[in-house]
Amino acid sequence: MIKIGLLGLGTVGSGVVTIMENNKESIRRKVGTSLAIEKVLVKNLDKERDLDIDSRVLTSNIEDIVYNPDIDLVVELIGGEEPACQYIKEAINRGKSVVTANKLVIAKHGTEILKLAREKGVQVSYEGSVGGGIPIIRPLKESLAANRIHEIYGILNGTTNYILTKMTREGRKFQEVLAEAQKLGYAESDPSSDIEGYDAAYKIAILASIAFETSIDISSVYVEGIDGISVDDIELARELGYVIKLLAIGKRCERGLDIRVHPTFIPRSHPLALVSDVYNAVYLHGDAVGDVMSYGKGAGQMPTGSAVVADIIQVARDIHSGRVVTPSLDTTIKHRVVDINEIENSFYLRLQVRDKPGVLAQITKVLGDNKVSLASVLQKHRLTTVVPLVLITHPVKEQFINKSLKELKKIEDVVSIDSLIRVEEESI
Ligand SMILES: NC(=O)c1ccc[n+]([C@@H]2O[C@H](COP(=O)([O-])OP(=O)(O)OC[C@H]3O[C@@H](n4cnc5c(N)ncnc54)[C@H](OP(=O)(O)O)[C@@H]3O)[C@@H](O)[C@H]2O)c1
Repeated sequence: MIKIGLLGLGTVGSGVVTIMENNKESIRRKVGTSLAIEKVLVKNLDKERDLDIDSRVLTSNIEDIVYNPDIDLVVELIGGEEPACQYIKEAINRGKSVVTANKLVIAKHGTEILKLAREKGVQVSYEGSVGGGIPIIRPLKESLAANRIHEIYGILNGTTNYILTKMTREGRKFQEVLAEAQKLGYAESDPSSDIEGYDAAYKIAILASIAFETSIDISSVYVEGIDGISVDDIELARELGYVIKLLAIGKRCERGLDIRVHPTFIPRSHPLALVSDVYNAVYLHGDAVGDVMSYGKGAGQMPTGSAVVADIIQVARDIHSGRVVTPSLDTTIKHRVVDINEIENSFYLRLQVRDKPGVLAQITKVLGDNKVSLASVLQKHRLTTVVPLVLITHPVKEQFINKSLKELKKIEDVVSIDSLIRVEEESI
C-alpha cells in the first residue's frame, strides 16, 4: 500500500478524494497496490465539508504529514506561493515524492524544486498546473520528446475565454460579463490574476520551459490582460475575419525566445478561434510531428482532479515497483527571453479622427516614417465629424509602433487612439 498525505481539501483536493474513491479498484490495478489517503492538511478543522471523510485523517499541522515516515507521496493542493512552496520543499527534503497543481509555485520555483528532487531521488509531477484536465505536460515531456518544438500557442485561462466568448456572442461589455462570471463562479471574487493575464503567463512559462528545455524567468514574460477590450474591437475583428483571444505564446525566434500573453486577433478559420467558453487549448508545432492541438476543460474540480490523480498513479506505480525516476532538468539550455520592443507583430490600431481631407495622409506619413506599412485600412462612415479609423499593419517591431503612437497623438485631427491589439497570422 502507498500512503498519501494530501495538502488541501478545497475544490481540487475534494475532486481528488472523490476520484480516488470512485475509481479505487481500477487505480489499484494500474498502480499494482492500493492507495490510502493517510492524512489531509486543512486550514480550518471546524469547516463543514461536503465530502464524506473520516475527520480523524484531517489535521492542521503540516508536521503530521512531512514528518510522517509512513507517507511516501505528498499531494499539494493548497495553492498560492507560501506556505505551499515551503511544504513542497520540506516533503522533498524528507524523501517524499510530490504531486502538485500549483502553477504559481512551479512557474516561480520549478527549477529549484526539480533540482532538489533530483538530489533527493524523488519525483515531482505537476500535470494539473497547466490546462486543468488537458494532458499537456506529460505529452510534451514524453509523447512529443522526439521533436524540436518551434512554437506553442495556448488559450490557458478559462475565465478570460468565457468573458471574451460572451462579449463576442452577445455584444455585452467587459464589466457586465465579468460580474456575471463572478456570480456563476467562473471568475474569482478577486479576478485580477486571470483578467490581467498573470495566470496564463505562469502557465506558458511552465510549458515553454519544458518545450525549449530552459528555465524561464517569469518576470521576463510580457503580460497584458483583457480589461481594455471593447465590444467595438470585437465587432471590428469579426468584420475583418478575426476573433480576439487572450493568447499565451511561446516561440523560438532569431535572438532567443518570444514568450508573452496578450489579447490577440487570430484568424476566424484557425482551430484556436473555435475554443469557446471556459474551455482551454494548446496548439503547438514540432519539427517532426507538425501541428498538434489539445483541447478540454482547463479548470474545475473533476477535470483538474483527473490530471492530479493521473500524476498520483504514475508516481505511486514507480514507488511501488522501486523504479527510481528523478525529474529531468528542463533547464539545460540557456535562452534569452527577447524584450517585447524587439518582437515583430502585425497590429490592429483603432483611432478616432476628424473626418477631413488629408488626415489619412498625415497618419500614413507618420507610420511610414517609422517603418510601419499598412496591410489594410477601414474607415467607418458616420454622420458625425469624428469617425473611427481602423488600420492593420504589416509585421513591424513593437518599438516602431510605440514611437508612431507618440507621434500620432500630436496630430490635431487624431482625436484619440482607442486600441492597439496584436495580430497573429503569419505563423499561426
Ligand atoms: N480550482 C481549479 O479549478 C484549479 C484548476 C487548476 C489548478 N488549480 C490549482 O490547484 C490548487 C488548489 O486550488 P483549489 O481551487 O482547490 O483551492 P481552494 O478551493 O481554495 O482549496 C485550498 C485548500 O487548501 C487549504 N489551505 C489553504 N491554505 C492553507 C494553509 N496555509 N494551511 C493548510 N491548509 C491550507 C484550505 O483549507 P480549508 O478547507 O480549511 O479552508 C483548502 O482546503 C491551486 O494551486 C490552484 O492553482 C485549481
